[in-house]
Amino acid sequence: MNLTDRPRRLRRDGVRELVSETSLSPEDLIAPVFVDATTDERVPIQSMPGHERVPIDQAVDRVEEVLETGVEAVMLFGIPESKDPQGSRAWAEDGVVQKATRRITAETDAYVITDVCLCEYTDHGHCGVVEETAAEDPDLTVKNDETLELLGKIAVSQAEAGAEMVAPSSMTDGMVGAIREALDDAGFSDVPIMSYAAKYESSFYGPFRDAADGAPAFGDRRHYQMDPANREEATREVRLDVEQGADVLMVKPALPYLDIVRDVDREFDYPVAAYNVSGEYAMLHAAAEKGWLDLDAAATESLLSIKRAGADLILTYFAEDVARRL
Ligand code: PBG
Repeated sequence: MNLTDRPRRLRRDGVRELVSETSLSPEDLIAPVFVDATTDERVPIQSMPGHERVPIDQAVDRVEEVLETGVEAVMLFGIPESKDPQGSRAWAEDGVVQKATRRITAETDAYVITDVCLCEYTDHGHCGVVEETAAEDPDLTVKNDETLELLGKIAVSQAEAGAEMVAPSSMTDGMVGAIREALDDAGFSDVPIMSYAAKYESSFYGPFRDAADGAPAFGDRRHYQMDPANREEATREVRLDVEQGADVLMVKPALPYLDIVRDVDREFDYPVAAYNVSGEYAMLHAAAEKGWLDLDAAATESLLSIKRAGADLILTYFAEDVARRL
């Protein structure tokens, strides 16, 4: 055979590392942490093996565990002591995330990012203000403009507690602009916004909704999260967030939406984040438990693929496991 081009030459150990195009580092990873005001002990999350909801007074210990692996950033989610129709515990000065953030920023070197949303705090489980009669009429969607003011209040209360970055996830039109204005007015013009810019209405959020107790009590999120069928709309959604002042652009979920990650990376000269969501984590664990795949190898390959598609940073429940092996 007279082959001049033989790609196999570069696949041997020794040279393959030299020509590798993508690499993973613990510094690219953000570990989600669940802080729960309803418990005084750690509660394992059944559908997310290895993850727990931790009480506020163990939030620092939990974050120290993350830091030991080399991961330097955490994303905090809160389970409040009580819920109401407005979700008022989301912006309370003594709310679960606010309390945990104060302690974590005072006692650790972690970079603290907070989720700005209402679904864990409202008794109806939707990501914003709903009509009182919404339960009887599921066509009544979350009231967009009434929700914006609340999102601004949440972000400011988190920044006051010391959050270093805020991450709005409610898919409310105008949310980034409203939060940017509220933060700037409160003197937090240095706090960046990582927008869940292209967030799809996905079935892969199931385990998270159990973990954070944030499933909608009626209806679904189709009125505000994106249709999985749409690709061009993602560019439009992301562009709106850029125009409103987003600093980091997130695509969510990650693995089923790598085409979107790639589009956002090519289209915008901003850092791109991808959220390797709870269902993506749970399905690898479930398959591994049956002996159908090698968990460590599949997790590393997943994260590598997300970076290869164009993500600069990855939110993932595998953060600690993968970082430990790097
Ligand atoms: C809150 C929020 C959700 C997730 C992150 N922030 C739930 C949802 O939109 O239903 C899901 C994360 C995951 O599945 O890992 N809006």
